[in-house]
Amino acid sequence: MRDKGIILGIETSCDETAVAVLKNGSELMANVVFSQIEIHRPYGGVVPEIASRNHLQNLPLVLQEAMDLSQLSYSDLDAIAATRGPGLIPSLLVGLSAGKGLAFSLGIPFLGINHLRAHVYALYLNDPDLHPPMIVTLVSGGHTQILYIPKEDEMVCIGNTRDDAAGEAFDKGARILGLAYPGGPSIEQAAKGGDQRHVLFPTAFMEPGNYDFSYSGLKTSLLYFMQKHPNARVEDVAASFQEAIVEPLIRKSFSAARRWKANSLLFAGGVAANNRLRERALAEASKNGIRVLFPPVGLCTDNAAMVAMAGWKRYIKGNVDSLKCPAVSSLSIEQE
Ligand code: KG4
Ligand code: ZN
Repeated sequence: MRDKGIILGIETSCDETAVAVLKNGSELMANVVFSQIEIHRPYGGVVPEIASRNHLQNLPLVLQEAMDLSQLSYSDLDAIAATRGPGLIPSLLVGLSAGKGLAFSLGIPFLGINHLRAHVYALYLNDPDLHPPMIVTLVSGGHTQILYIPKEDEMVCIGNTRDDAAGEAFDKGARILGLAYPGGPSIEQAAKGGDQRHVLFPTAFMEPGNYDFSYSGLKTSLLYFMQKHPNARVEDVAASFQEAIVEPLIRKSFSAARRWKANSLLFAGGVAANNRLRERALAEASKNGIRVLFPPVGLCTDNAAMVAMAGWKRYIKGNVDSLKCPAVSSLSIEQE
């Protein structure tokens, strides 16, 4: 088992072009994220072709900036980790090809990283002493899953969304309310000072022991509500809508943590940046005596520090990939 090494991580699975450098699994020497949000905002969502063209243009600059910040030269690197899925194939191919090219030219190991597992490994950047059994609720633009982690590298999905992901619900809800993309931060902002009990939106699968989610009915209810009440106060509707996304996440996550006797409950992914989710989780934590942890906000949304950490966890075990490692749009959490 290795205990030293410098890993360069690359992330281009969606609309963030990111590069990070991680030393010995603990010291983040550089963490550069170029977000394309402004570029995609006029379209109300990510346009895959535009995303991949921008990765191609920006990755060399982001890479150079990360190397400059780390004050290292390429010959100091011990391995390259790049996201290989899930995500948009044209976007994934940019970072994956760049990572393979770097590893090949430097003659060092390459690691193709599962983006979902990387979101979970982001938690170790701030809390290196985490240990199983843990429950992680992974909430992003594409995924909403409750994971049971019996061993550090074993992630078992015990609950999943049957349709829309929590982040997707925020994004689609924002569109209905005429708010900017991405919807999560816009709805959170619009909900400030609003009454979350103003509209009682439906929440699905709330019976005990059910860890699945469904958010597509919620979006339809919001649409019908706005058609019937076009003059409703946006802050009240946004706060009620946010509550209908957050409450099932809280109830099911805590129930899972109790049932699987987890020593900690953790939240990861872009939606984990949401302050109402954080506030509710911390309130429940003190009632239930369960330790709750969130990554810092900058490590919730897509970044390459989490990719480098996921790479480190495999590098120390010598579990590296060949340069044939393919990009996979629909990689599941169980696959390394
Ligand atoms: O993890 P992420 O950056 O990308 C994916 O892997 O999907 O998550 C992006 C999602 C978007 O749907 C965005 O609306 C949501 O995370 N998000 C938030 C917040 N910040 C980002 N949702 C709620 N509240 C936020 N503050
Ligand atoms: Zn993500």
